[in-house]
Amino acid sequence: MTSIELLARLDHTLRKSIPALPAALGVQIFSRGRTAFAQRFANDTSIDARVFDRDVLSTYGTTLWDLTFRLPLMNAAGMFKSGEGYTVVANQGAGGYVAGTTTATPRAGNTKHGVQWPAVSYPRSHAASNWMGLPNKGHAAVARILAALPRVAGCPLGASVSADPGMEETLALQGLVDGMRAYAKAGVDYLEVNESCPNVPGHHDGPQIDDGLIRRLEFIAQHVLSTRTRRLPVVVKFSNDTAMEQIDDLVSIVIQLGYDGIILGNTSTQYAARRAMIDHAETRLYDHFTQTFGGGLSGRVLKSDSLALCIRAKQAAERCAPRQEFHVIRCGGVETLADVDASRANGIALNQWYTGYFDAFGMHGHDVYLRLFNSAATLSMSAR
Ligand SMILES: Cc1cc2nc3c(=O)[nH]c(=O)nc-3n(C[C@H](O)[C@H](O)[C@H](O)COP(=O)(O)O)c2cc1C
Repeated sequence: MTSIELLARLDHTLRKSIPALPAALGVQIFSRGRTAFAQRFANDTSIDARVFDRDVLSTYGTTLWDLTFRLPLMNAAGMFKSGEGYTVVANQGAGGYVAGTTTATPRAGNTKHGVQWPAVSYPRSHAASNWMGLPNKGHAAVARILAALPRVAGCPLGASVSADPGMEETLALQGLVDGMRAYAKAGVDYLEVNESCPNVPGHHDGPQIDDGLIRRLEFIAQHVLSTRTRRLPVVVKFSNDTAMEQIDDLVSIVIQLGYDGIILGNTSTQYAARRAMIDHAETRLYDHFTQTFGGGLSGRVLKSDSLALCIRAKQAAERCAPRQEFHVIRCGGVETLADVDASRANGIALNQWYTGYFDAFGMHGHDVYLRLFNSAATLSMSAR
């Protein structure tokens, strides 16, 4: 067991006592611990590459846009803001990797009441809140880091970008497409456009299909999608709070503009509606965080919505009959093989996880993907 696995295991047990602390102290402790842990975790490069059962790889491996994802599960954006951690998750067996989200100008992220990058977990509820505010080193710096990475077969490398919140629109759009070009030049395999961070001004938790969104999507279509000199899929990430009635229009817009997929989705700001899914031992901390910082909710509270939205998006995409290869990617509350299987049964080829990943890492360490997927092999063998 590596020291980071030991730390994660201890944390997995100890974090259950955080909700019993005074809430402000609990947030302070968790936020600091999370930052320190994230840095060490991404640098734990000494691990051996995990070996998967051949049946698992042939059953679950998938090829999308000519890219081979050896498993249909990978990290969600925000886990590796500065392009760190690829080797760690690739050796664990992740089906892919995404860096960022980055912006044109480096961002310090949010600090309030002396808490830098406020975040907290609700372990009994398998959920979390964060109000980090997109801290990052900027597109150009992270593109340089990604360009230098040794790559692992079966683990495509993606990057996530956003227009700079609060920047004048013409500059923000130019910064966004310049960043996308920098990543294209760095050799990334695919790009995500993050349209859904609730922790910065200008992003939507809705999303409303407003003029700003359409202008951004059109600008990217004109200056990136239609000028690609190699196959570089670009997908758009919306919120898990997206109203079901908006999905058909959103899917139709992104398909018509030439995008290659949609991710549903990002964190939620529906604090009141999702409160009933929080264990009663954790509601005091939940109320404190959501009332003090707001932030985005993640984890199990999003599970059913992410699936329902993806199913709807898949149906909408089929109706549009796109000329391009178009995929729906599920993100939100994915934590078990049953979740991956539910996605698969509905034609959703790829899943991303964040909150569930760290929950599982606390239990299984670097065997996190192995334990999840090889259980499928064991089950299928025992059924024979
Ligand atoms: C601490 C934290 C930071 C995040 N940062 C980003 C980000 O930079 N870009 C992004 O698109 N999503 C970000 N997200 C959202 C996740 O990518 C994901 O959409 C969300 O957590 C739902 O997935 P989950 O339920 O598996 O956690 C962040 C989430 C967390 C918890």
